[in-house]
Amino acid sequence: MYYIGVDLGTSAVKLLLMDGKGTIKNIVSKEYPLSFPKPGWSEQNPEDWDKQVMAGIKELIAGVDGSEVAGISFGGQMHGLVILDKDDNVIRPAILWNDGRTTKECDYLNNVIGKNKLSEYTANIAFAGFTAPKILWVKENEPENFAKIAKIMLPKDYIAYKLSGVHCTDVSDASGMLLFDVKNRTWSKEMCEICSVREDQLAKIYESYETVGTILPAVAKELGISENCKIVAGAGDNAAAAVGTGTVGDGACNISLGTSGTIFISSKNFGVDSNNALHSFAHADGTYHLMGCMLSAASCNKWWMDEIIGTKDYAAEQKSIEKLGENHVFFLPYLMGERSPINDPMARATFTGITMDTTRADMTQAVLEGVAFALRDSFEVARSLGVDIQRSKICGGGAKSPLWKKIVANVLNIKIDVIESEEGPALGGAMLAAVANGEYASVQDAADAIVKIVDTVEPDAELVAKYEARYQEFKRIYPALKPVFNA
Ligand code: XUL
Repeated sequence: MYYIGVDLGTSAVKLLLMDGKGTIKNIVSKEYPLSFPKPGWSEQNPEDWDKQVMAGIKELIAGVDGSEVAGISFGGQMHGLVILDKDDNVIRPAILWNDGRTTKECDYLNNVIGKNKLSEYTANIAFAGFTAPKILWVKENEPENFAKIAKIMLPKDYIAYKLSGVHCTDVSDASGMLLFDVKNRTWSKEMCEICSVREDQLAKIYESYETVGTILPAVAKELGISENCKIVAGAGDNAAAAVGTGTVGDGACNISLGTSGTIFISSKNFGVDSNNALHSFAHADGTYHLMGCMLSAASCNKWWMDEIIGTKDYAAEQKSIEKLGENHVFFLPYLMGERSPINDPMARATFTGITMDTTRADMTQAVLEGVAFALRDSFEVARSLGVDIQRSKICGGGAKSPLWKKIVANVLNIKIDVIESEEGPALGGAMLAAVANGEYASVQDAADAIVKIVDTVEPDAELVAKYEARYQEFKRIYPALKPVFNA
């Protein structure tokens, strides 16, 4: 049988076809527009996602027997607010995870309701990209839209709904709404009240590997697949990526260098960072995880390459980088403000330390290093909680670059395990569909059978020392500029 993993990303949807043994048969990617209606705002049209998912599935399964597609599941960009009216029509464009418009609402939640209460109810505090502050923003700024809300959905759950007709969500993605009691894996009554949300406006909660229903007959017919095909809840893209990289069980780590940059630490037990700098979320394997999320990671390099330098040949650009650990240029990667750990939507990207002899290669190197340094900021929070990380998997577009992996290994001073496929969320989605269909007894079993480490990037003591010194300098830049960003 075949399983489809749908990774509903920010720039594109990636679809992956896997057989029951875990062999990847095909991968298709379909782009859609992203709009920034105002500085710091970020929106997408859910109907564009749906159109491209349908087109993508057709292309993905061309040439295979559609009756053998047994399950579809998801990894999706987290936190996005999708609101539907009583007829399940989309009310307004989705407000995405990297949207920074909710400073006022976060301030109200964190300081008037109070961080302690939020953390007690949900295990987390308010960050600008989370879903609950956006609901309050719609209530305040678009009351006519707020009045029409019949269902509040997350991005991938909207696609699951279009395929199955079921309003569903999963525990990992629901964790990022700030409406979810992560510890008890249920909606928080207190948070619903605080945000003027009725529980019937929220979707039914599933574990990530549970089936929510079968595909709608009309959709099955259009796609040419069996009406018995199961739609499986899936996970937020980071939890799905963790499944796809085998980051399950206790104390395993995955780094994602996608549009966002995350460190993800799986944990058997529920736990909260006492400063709430790291998110405490439910994992797709039935357990929990801690996560730090930076808003711009591979997107910094993409911006620098595509928009500024004007090249598509990233590898050629990186070839001229030779002096690792000796760059005098620093880059703050805050192109969309920043979430973990500084939680500052007003932070902005900067280059510092440029001199007359600075080269294009130095600046490209600074971008790659700036992302690694900012990841280290979240790593340091995890270390301060006593989490001992010696090695990590890595996935996402940035993981294709051997140079970037080397920089990350040395800046963090950990081993980076490279896996056969860096298609984290799409592969994880397909694996969750296979688990729901009984191909594997558990998510852990699927990961043990499917995920293979093919290489390890070892940190080098001399380079680690050089980067340690650079990191100490990097750490001083944001606090010095904060008053400028917030003026
Ligand atoms: C996680 C987060 C991002 C998005 C990217 O908290 O906001 O990683 O999920 O798609």
